[in-house]
Amino acid sequence: MQVSRVDATLGASVTDVDLRSPDDSTIREILDAWHQFGVLVFPDQHLTNDEQISFSKHFGAFERGLNPASTNKLAHISNLTPEGAVAEPTSLQVRFHEGNTHWHTDSSYKSVGAKASILSARQVPNEGGETEWADMRAAWDILDRETQQWLEDKVAVHSFAYSHSWHGGLETVGDNIRYLPPVQHPVVRVHPETGRKNLFVGRHASHIVGEDEYASRALLKKLTSDGAQSPRLWKYTWQSGDIAIWDNRCVLHRGHRWPLTQARSMVRTTIAGDDPNNAWAMTA
Ligand code: OGA
Ligand code: MN
Repeated sequence: MQVSRVDATLGASVTDVDLRSPDDSTIREILDAWHQFGVLVFPDQHLTNDEQISFSKHFGAFERGLNPASTNKLAHISNLTPEGAVAEPTSLQVRFHEGNTHWHTDSSYKSVGAKASILSARQVPNEGGETEWADMRAAWDILDRETQQWLEDKVAVHSFAYSHSWHGGLETVGDNIRYLPPVQHPVVRVHPETGRKNLFVGRHASHIVGEDEYASRALLKKLTSDGAQSPRLWKYTWQSGDIAIWDNRCVLHRGHRWPLTQARSMVRTTIAGDDPNNAWAMTA
């Protein structure tokens, strides 16, 4: 297995490995590289849905979708209808994914956010549709000491209703919004594997507890956009068959737009945060 880091503070491309049959030591190496680089892309793997599920199991328990009773392990991040047609740009299916174009960390609007997201490209457009990641460990490192000290004990409210109300999120979840009340997460978190601090922000973070709502919202947005700058970025152009895994505990991501006359079909498996009280984790 060959791990080639990219020219950024995060990210590596991994080749000479078959994710259908990794042995224990290969999984160990993948986990170590993932902790170090935050995001790994494995080009040219062409996993089936079942193979993606099997590979994903090495990272933890699956996370349920937007309903805590859901048992579906696959999320289709796609503008193809179940019949295989390109969906209308104004359709709810397309509008729902609009939110993905803004920097975020998956499921931070849940009481326990996602640990890993594993995304595979099945059908890609001939322009646009890249995924981009931002290293929020390095984003923390560049803050001045005074800002770090001020942020250290701050807690942010993350809210599905806040981040999804403008593009079809509320229409998509309907009554399930009752399972997605606003939650709180520290703004500065320590990664359990590396011990590195990082800024936990992104589009679901609404404001800081105990601070002026609008001023703290502006601050969270600034921390996100200042953090997500080169050399802390990796923008990846997909080929069909590629698969990526990123660490939602310390990396933000966003998807770039593409011409909506073209198909883009991705399949995501999501690994739940390791908290023993995580109601979103599939235990069986
Ligand atoms: C996701 C996501 C971005 C993309 O699947 O969680 O944000 O590029 N995807 O599809
Ligand atoms: Mn996402």
